Amino acid sequence: MIRPLHWTLIASFMVFVFGPSCSSSSESSQNQNPRLAPAQPNRTSELAQAMRDIDLELQSVLAVLSAGEEATDFRLTEHDFSKLQPTDSTMLVVGFQALSIAFSSHVSNFNRTPSKETYMAVVGGCVSCHQKACPGPLERIAKRRLPDALD
Ligand code: HEC
Repeated sequence: MIRPLHWTLIASFMVFVFGPSCSSSSESSQNQNPRLAPAQPNRTSELAQAMRDIDLELQSVLAVLSAGEEATDFRLTEHDFSKLQPTDSTMLVVGFQALSIAFSSHVSNFNRTPSKETYMAVVGGCVSCHQKACPGPLERIAKRRLPDALD
């Protein structure tokens, strides 16, 4: 029987392990402030939580589309990533806002016309931002692609 405290510890360990992988592409300009390291080790940032939520939504849509069914009844939550608090400010790379806006328009296109094409455009929007802002989850995002999609 695992008690809730243990889950908290496991969760904070995962944040500790996976958190730094996000920003590893710009090591030179970060971690100058030693106070960042131990700050709120148990907390999931608003931005990270929104990412997890939308990733779950993508998994539901992907399951339906991969089964050859229509995704007509699905809608994705329209987050504004540029207004959510990240784990640390080094994640807000130059161009972050433009990438968020582009991503939001892919999401609203999908919500207007849910289809394989609009779904893949959403996944493309995840990839575009992650290549710049947070490469860690790219491998996971690659799994959200439709197997038969050609890009
Ligand atoms: C505009 C940029 C941007 C877009 C678009 C974007 N992400 Fe992210 N993502 C980030 C940043 C920055 C983080 C790090 C957040 C943090 O730790 O506070 C992140 C974190 C994540 C994480 C890790 C969350 C965690 O548990 O720490 C996952 C998974 C993820 N994104 C998946 C996705 C998926 C799936 C999409 C598309 C539906 C997406 N992202 C779209 C910038 C983006």
